[in-house]
Amino acid sequence: MYAQMVTSEATQDDPEKLAAFQARIDAGEKIEPKEWMPEGYRKTLIRQIGQHAHSEIVGQLPEGNWITRAPTLERKAILLAKVQDEAGHGLYLYCAAETLGVSRDELTEALLAGKMKYSSIFNYPTLTWADIGAVGWLVDGAAIMNQVPLQRTSFGPYSRAMIRICKEESFHQRQGFDIMRKMATGTDAQRHMAQDALNRFWYPSLMMFGPSDKDSVHSAQSMRWKIKMNTNDELRQKFVDQTVPQAEYLGLTVPDPDLRWNAEKGGYDFTEPDWSEFFEVLKGNGPCNAERLAARQKAWDDGAWVRGGLMAHAAKQAAAPVAAE
Ligand code: 3HC
Repeated sequence: MYAQMVTSEATQDDPEKLAAFQARIDAGEKIEPKEWMPEGYRKTLIRQIGQHAHSEIVGQLPEGNWITRAPTLERKAILLAKVQDEAGHGLYLYCAAETLGVSRDELTEALLAGKMKYSSIFNYPTLTWADIGAVGWLVDGAAIMNQVPLQRTSFGPYSRAMIRICKEESFHQRQGFDIMRKMATGTDAQRHMAQDALNRFWYPSLMMFGPSDKDSVHSAQSMRWKIKMNTNDELRQKFVDQTVPQAEYLGLTVPDPDLRWNAEKGGYDFTEPDWSEFFEVLKGNGPCNAERLAARQKAWDDGAWVRGGLMAHAAKQAAAPVAAE
């Protein structure tokens, strides 16, 4: 079912309908679920929103790992709230994908079968408490950079989901920066942990924006359809420009000896991530891919009795005679 919906190539859409659809997009109109849309548009949205939803859910794992080890009660309460927010983001996004005619079960099964992806970043481990700071500051910071423009994306349910998600992601980014600030102004050992976390999370965070524009297979069409509002490289550059002064404020060093302000372009020149590492992580060969998918598989298997019970209840309700007023 999922394969039929998502991997079939675009159907021969009527050129007149296609032109009228593109005119609506160009005029900044929102496309709503029951309206006509090209098959390729629907397919691209299911892929992107589904992948985004999976990222929110899988993204709970590296942080959930630290809930029991947060250094204070306050930090623990904040981290709990953040991880719960991520679960909520996943649910909004699965709901948005469902309006396109794919079920949450199909999306999860596709993830577990290796037919869908989640963000590369969550295949890296969180080894120290400072990593929780780096994840909030850099990973949520990169997520916001990508998602704020998506509030203006052309598909109504996706753009509306993004509005709330972005508000919450801003809190996540601030809490991460606050952890980093505390560590960076603490003892030598804490400063060292903060620098080490930045060293390990810098390039994986840059990879979150996707491959460089020349290797991005979907960007051109997705931007024509306003499913994406910017190219991968545009957002990566904005992220570097925003984050380097924050690192300087913290007294930390971005692990890139070639990082330089380029006055002519009004942005930093920086070293690209190691793209061979990125593509290896996408193929399933990152440090935590197997662990993350095993955790999702276990949650799916453990929840089978709940899904079964709900389906049985729904079937019983549907079969019951309608009660008289
Ligand atoms: N991780 C995993 N896969 C990635 C990736 C990444 N960081 N970046 C790109 N890819 C994949 C693409 O999915 C595509 O593979 P596919 O054809 O098999 O799906 C391939 O690499 C080529 O990349 P493209 O640039 O052509 O792909 P897109 O046009 O889809 O652009 C994107 C990639 C910029 C990530 C885009 O999909 C996007 O903006 N997605 C919405 C945002 C999102 O998913 N964010 C997840 C971040 S985590 C998060 O929000 C959780 C928060 O709590 C931190």
